[in-house]
Amino acid sequence: MTDEALAETIESQLLDVALKAMRNARVLWGFRVGAAALGEDEEIYEGCNVESEIAGLGVCAERNAIDHAVIHGNRKIRAVAVVADHPSIQTLTPCGACRQYIKEFADGDVWVVMAMAKDSHILKHTKLRRKISEMLPHPYRTNAFDTQTRLHDLTQQ
Ligand code: THU
Repeated sequence: MTDEALAETIESQLLDVALKAMRNARVLWGFRVGAAALGEDEEIYEGCNVESEIAGLGVCAERNAIDHAVIHGNRKIRAVAVVADHPSIQTLTPCGACRQYIKEFADGDVWVVMAMAKDSHILKHTKLRRKISEMLPHPYRTNAFDTQTRLHDLTQQ
């Protein structure tokens, strides 16, 4: 299956899961966001944003969805969807931290599907699909966690 075909097939499923997860968002000062990550096991894992009284302690929906996939044994994800409910945002695109996170867990150059929602429905005209390479062309990258580098470091100690 080509990337394009995969995207077409799972896009609506991912958006649907993200939309449902959005209902569980814990919102104190922001707005509702839902996400879905397709694991390498072909299962879809949902996430929502969880805000904290302490600014910066909460977590975005995308990272929650990816962590959910990891908890279930996935080391890679194949696609991500994100849905938000906000009256004046045209299309919510993932924040920089989430782009980095998606990139780190991505199984190749994965699709990110984005859409806004209103009254529990996806607003189709807001739908946008981009490759993570396009959204984060120069990710932070260190070789500190490469197996070879680590072995080398350990033997030098
Ligand atoms: N948020 C997400 O969950 N995903 C994003 O990509 C951007 C922002 C959350 C964080 C916060 O709870 C709320 O949306 C407003 O920024």
